[in-house]
Amino acid sequence: MVISSAPGKCILFGEHAVVYGQPAVAVAIDARIHITLEKSESGWLIDGMQFDKQRHPHLDAMLKRMWTGDGGQPLSIRVESELFGAAGLGSSAAICSAVAAGLLHIRGTPADELPLSGIATTAHIAEAEAQGGRASPIDTSTSTLGGAVLVSDKKESQAHWKYTRDLRIDGQRRTWEVHSVDLPESLTEASLVIGFSGRPGPTAQMVAKVANLLANHPERMEEIERIGNVTRAGTTALSLGNLQAVGIAMNECHRLLQGLGVSDADLDRMVDAALPSSLGAKLTGAGGGGCMIALTTEPRRTAEAIELAGGRTMVSQLGAPGVRIENE
Ligand code: MEV
Repeated sequence: MVISSAPGKCILFGEHAVVYGQPAVAVAIDARIHITLEKSESGWLIDGMQFDKQRHPHLDAMLKRMWTGDGGQPLSIRVESELFGAAGLGSSAAICSAVAAGLLHIRGTPADELPLSGIATTAHIAEAEAQGGRASPIDTSTSTLGGAVLVSDKKESQAHWKYTRDLRIDGQRRTWEVHSVDLPESLTEASLVIGFSGRPGPTAQMVAKVANLLANHPERMEEIERIGNVTRAGTTALSLGNLQAVGIAMNECHRLLQGLGVSDADLDRMVDAALPSSLGAKLTGAGGGGCMIALTTEPRRTAEAIELAGGRTMVSQLGAPGVRIENE
């Protein structure tokens, strides 16, 4: 039996703009997915039920690539999640990353020698296959590497370049540069409070909404570029531990995302409720539902304010550890 785990993630800056090649930064959060893999005598099982490929396209893509293709035996997979479901916190990426690590460990890779860029790549391909080709590698890279991760279409000076990810989509090649971002000790003074509206965020619909807006108003690409510039400034602030400037960049991102039409009344209400006790607050992920985040040194007060505005909350530090094997 192998137990592995990987963290969920929140995007601090750059969602939507990253679809157009601009940088985005995500941090791994303290809520994780735990996966237990065991040999099964009763065929493929997930949480004790027969494995249904349609319900678990990410896992199916993953297993084909890493296990069944090489004649691997049926397994029983148990998934335990500390994340809000369908909330834009990267649970499918964390599942892919943890399953990949668990499969490698079963086949003999020691826990301290997990090939992180290989796991992130396989998890990204599985996620892209399951989502019809549209997935940036930000979720899978963050849940695999942990800490803070920046993804951009070019190497960015504010962060440490780790590897290049490329993916062929509909005959076209897309390339992303994946970086890690320093998280200095002083950042532990602040927490992230994550507020979930209770409504899932329809990622594909929100990405399409922005694509339509830009097709009809090409001049609004300027706002996408502005998000990219705010992200670069926010990344510098993050790596210097300048909490005030990180908060200002988060607020500016939220304003720009509102302008693109991807926020909604629930997210705005939670952001407004969080602001008096926070350094900054914004929606995180695709919007149109899902979650917001607030950076705060008073997590209890901020969480109460978000709950009074109708949200469910979770508190995390910035930059949890990445994928790992839990039972040695
Ligand atoms: C969704 O978590 C983030 C988006 O930028 C889409 C993506 O990066 O694939 C909206």
